[in-house]
Amino acid sequence: LLPMTAALGLILAGCGREDLSVLRPQGPAAESSFDLMKLSITIMIVVLLIVFSIAAYVLVRFRRKPDQREMPEQVEGSFKLEVLWTVIPLILVVVLAVPTVKAVFAAGNDHSSDKNAIKVKVTGHQYWWEFEYTDYGVTTAQDLVIPAGKDIAFELSTKDVLHSFWVPSLSGKMDTNPDGTTNRFSFSAPNEGVYRGKCAELCGPSHGFMEFKVKTVSEAAFEKWVNSMKAPAVLPEDPALAEKFKSQCLTCHAVGDMPDLSSAPNLTGIGSRESVAGILLNDDTGVDGAPVLENLKTWLHDTAGVKPGNKMPDPKKDMGLSDEEIDGIAEFLAGYTLD
Ligand code: CUA
Repeated sequence: LLPMTAALGLILAGCGREDLSVLRPQGPAAESSFDLMKLSITIMIVVLLIVFSIAAYVLVRFRRKPDQREMPEQVEGSFKLEVLWTVIPLILVVVLAVPTVKAVFAAGNDHSSDKNAIKVKVTGHQYWWEFEYTDYGVTTAQDLVIPAGKDIAFELSTKDVLHSFWVPSLSGKMDTNPDGTTNRFSFSAPNEGVYRGKCAELCGPSHGFMEFKVKTVSEAAFEKWVNSMKAPAVLPEDPALAEKFKSQCLTCHAVGDMPDLSSAPNLTGIGSRESVAGILLNDDTGVDGAPVLENLKTWLHDTAGVKPGNKMPDPKKDMGLSDEEIDGIAEFLAGYTLD
C-alpha cells in the first residue's frame, strides 16, 4: 500500500501546473470538482485501510499452526455480516452521490440569461477553436480573452466532428456535438492569468494539437481588448503583398472589420496571441517556444507538418506564394498586434 501511495504521489506531482491541472483548481467550478475528488479519494483510502487491516489480521490470526492436522471450524453465512457489508457501502454511495449530483447540476448551469454574464459562442473546428462574443460583435480564435471574476456563459457547437472544450484548471469538459444540438455551461476565473485549454475528445490526427489559451484580464483590459478587436482591418503595407494577402488569405480568414466567413481562424491581432496555431508558443520558452515571427514562419512554411490533417492549403504548393511572400506575410502578421 505504501509504495503504491508513494508512486501515485509521484505521478500526480507532475500534474501540479496551475495553468493545466485539475489538482490546482483556479476557479469555483474546478474547485468543486477537486473537492469531489478529495472526498472520493478519502473514502477510498479509509475503506482500503480497513479492508487491508482486516485481511492482514485474519491471515496472521488464523494461519495454520505447525502441529495442526484437522480442518478448522467451517462457518457458512452470517446474517449480521451480510447486513453490515450491504448497509455500509450503501451509506458510502449516498455520501458520494449527493454532493456529486449537486456539483454536476451546478457545473451544467446555463447562465446565458444572466445579464451580467458574458456570452461566448465556442465553435470547434478540426483543429482550432473559434470564440464569438455575441454581445460585442467580436470573433477571435485560439486565445479566449475574458475578464477575471465575471461569469462566462458558453454556447458550444462544432463545424465538423465531436470535440470537447476543456480548461482543466478552470472547469470540467463540455462536448461540441455534431448533431446540431448546442451545449451550454458557465464558469468564471477569479484570478488574472493564462490557462491552457485542450480538446478532450479524439477528433483526428491533430487532436493532440488542438490547444487554446484562456487569458483572464482586468475588466478595463477586457474593454480595451474588445475595442482594439473592433478597429478597422490592417493590411500589409506593400501593395503587392496586400493584394496577395487579400486574394489568398482573406478568402477564408478575416481581419478587423472584414467579414468573417468563419471557415478559418480570425487573424485580428494575431501578433499579440499566446501561440501560433494553438501549439507553437510565442514566448521562447518550453519545448517548441519561439518568438511569434519564428512561429509564424514555421507554421506558414509547413502547415501540414505542424498540424497533420488540418484544412489550411499549403501557401507554397496550393496558393503559389513564394518563400519571400510567405516570410513577408509572416512579418506582417507578427506585427499585427493589439495595443
Ligand atoms: Cu478536437 Cu480533439
